[in-house]
Amino acid sequence: MDILIVGSGGREYSMGLALRKDPKVGKLYFAPGNGATDNLGTNIPLGDFGVLADFVQANNIELTIVGPEAPLVAGIVDVFKARGLNIFGPTAAAAQLEGSKIFMKNFLARHNIPTAKYIETDSLEKAYKFIETLTPPVVVKADGLCGGKGVIIAQSHDEAKREAGEMLSGNAFGEAGKSIVIEEFLDGYELSVFAICDGKDFVILPAAQDHKRLLDNDEGPNTGGMGAYVPTPLVNDEIYRKLEQRVVKPTLAGMQEEGMPFTGVLFMGVMVVQGEPIILEYNVRFGDPECEEIMPLLKSPSELFYKAATGNLAEANIEFYDKYAVGVVMASKNYPYSESVPAEIIIDNIVHDDIASNAHISFAGVTRGDDGKLYATGGRVLVCVGVGDSIAEAQRRAYMLCGQVHFAGKQCRSDIAYQALS
Ligand code: AMP
Ligand code: GLY
Repeated sequence: MDILIVGSGGREYSMGLALRKDPKVGKLYFAPGNGATDNLGTNIPLGDFGVLADFVQANNIELTIVGPEAPLVAGIVDVFKARGLNIFGPTAAAAQLEGSKIFMKNFLARHNIPTAKYIETDSLEKAYKFIETLTPPVVVKADGLCGGKGVIIAQSHDEAKREAGEMLSGNAFGEAGKSIVIEEFLDGYELSVFAICDGKDFVILPAAQDHKRLLDNDEGPNTGGMGAYVPTPLVNDEIYRKLEQRVVKPTLAGMQEEGMPFTGVLFMGVMVVQGEPIILEYNVRFGDPECEEIMPLLKSPSELFYKAATGNLAEANIEFYDKYAVGVVMASKNYPYSESVPAEIIIDNIVHDDIASNAHISFAGVTRGDDGKLYATGGRVLVCVGVGDSIAEAQRRAYMLCGQVHFAGKQCRSDIAYQALS
């Protein structure tokens, strides 16, 4: 089976790497891909969805997998489905679960799915009133897509009111902030749980924990994620069962009932508060860097994606390797504040068998220069992933590999997976 992957990050590279090792997979294409995905397949321009669908038809590509949220929210799946092409991801209507926080919160409320107490509003007066009823910290969220920046945890009522005002005036996030959600702060530990869905059936993948802050000990600014590990021992069977019964089943039933069956990845941002999983948010795609650790644990990724895209998950036999994976992100010098000067990436010859066979790199913000060398040109440049029989072993391998990768200004955390090891 030939496959097209839409996207250009480490997430899409890791899908490509897993599919490259899958004996059922033939040619791989990436649109647009990055400076390293051409090691795994062929990069093609992203362009218009119709033009991309022409390319898929002309080349008999049997499956398209969409990595990031933007093309999903913009309706790539609708265009492909109208042409009868197999595509893994939600339609634009179903992608509102990520595209609009208000849609998501109201959906959770309609279907009695546990989430933080909230209001949605475009009125400053209502915002102020509700803020007064909460004990700080207070969470203020812009409705639309803000590249992960639209969530403010305000430490006082005054700060929450100020932020709500900035958003509603359009100053902070433009149109994306013209409506807002205000909600109670949940105090617990955070998980990333992914369910692969085909509209009616689902498979829950081993749960991950991301590390969103730039610096060790969860200090410094929020980022897209500086590292993750899978599976996390912070989830037990009880939590999986609650997620299945209280969250995934009602979500799939609700989306069907409302005429927009959900196909693709349901990414549950979960806060566990005193043993109870509560939904912080939904995304409609894999997390990045969580995907980079999940992919090496899948035994037959092409089957999982193909069966989900074609509505046949019930007959799929999805198995996972009984291993752990730890991924450490290497970011460029000025991440997450601003762009950095391109820096040549030098990777030592990996002579240690243990590392060569149990660790690998997922490339993200990289470009291939005219000289054929790889340059760090993005914020998050690559992820060093170690796989092992324990989290400690996977972590050691990931960090051994980190030590062999060099570029000017590289930054990485030294404590990924600490919550599982302490
Ligand atoms: P979101 O984009 O909604 O996931 O929010 C980004 C991050 O803000 C989350 O990953 C959490 O760390 C934090 N966050 C969001 N909502 C809440 C909440 N109600 N209580 C505590 N932390 C939150
Ligand atoms: N790593 C979290 C995300 O992709 O949103």
